[in-house]
Amino acid sequence: MKKYLLAFVCSILFFTQCQNTTNENASNETSSSSQSKQLSTLPLSKEDSTFYAQEGTKLAKQMYAGILEKLRKALDELGYYESVKYCNHHALPLTDSLANYYGIKAKRTSLKLRNPANTPDELEKQVLKMYQQTLSKQPVVYKTKEGIRFFTPIYIAEFCLNCHGKPYENIPDVTLRALNELYPKDEARNYEIYDIRGVWSITFPENYSSILNQITNKN
Ligand code: HEC
Repeated sequence: MKKYLLAFVCSILFFTQCQNTTNENASNETSSSSQSKQLSTLPLSKEDSTFYAQEGTKLAKQMYAGILEKLRKALDELGYYESVKYCNHHALPLTDSLANYYGIKAKRTSLKLRNPANTPDELEKQVLKMYQQTLSKQPVVYKTKEGIRFFTPIYIAEFCLNCHGKPYENIPDVTLRALNELYPKDEARNYEIYDIRGVWSITFPENYSSILNQITNKN
């Protein structure tokens, strides 16, 4: 059973990377002007839009791979009940450490939340609704007063159903017990494969390019 689940995790890692490569290739088409008109955002040059779409896609991929790697280890070493607890304690700090390194703010958010700490702000809500309507797989980039904001959608793969699918049918009893204990208001269940689950939301600071140069020069 464990081996079967691990195979799933590995295939998800692969799947995520494939999907993100597609995003990178298509990043020239990001941030359509009709969308930015509906959202209260500032104008952004095509060059910056492409640059931040590529950077955001790269960072989201790294954070996602990091979370899945930790989850894979936790499942292997701790089993399902403890892994849910582990996820609770480690997913957010992991996102934070990479974010600190690059001077960005990063989070995963959704319209159906499990962890209230991931609650969307106004722009995130609008972007989530947009993805729900269009089911687009492309990232979007907006300039706002807070900085450059990047979003890329997160879709449900088969592996995710173990914790976000239908109780008992997909979510095993033992996982359900841990979820009920930790997230009494959990809304992130009953998803089906390929459903939109949420977005990665990354905010870049104004001086992101110079931070990136410093990091590149150090290595
Ligand atoms: C072992 C159980 C487990 C698996 C498998 C799992 N998740 Fe989660 N997920 C959680 C837990 C627990 C949280 C709440 C903690 C946190 O914020 O990371 C969560 C939170 C999230 C969030 C943040 C939004 C929210 O509701 O708080 C997203 C997005 C998400 N999961 C997507 C996925 C996707 C996509 C997959 C499959 C690739 C997946 N998850 C697989 C347990 C799991």
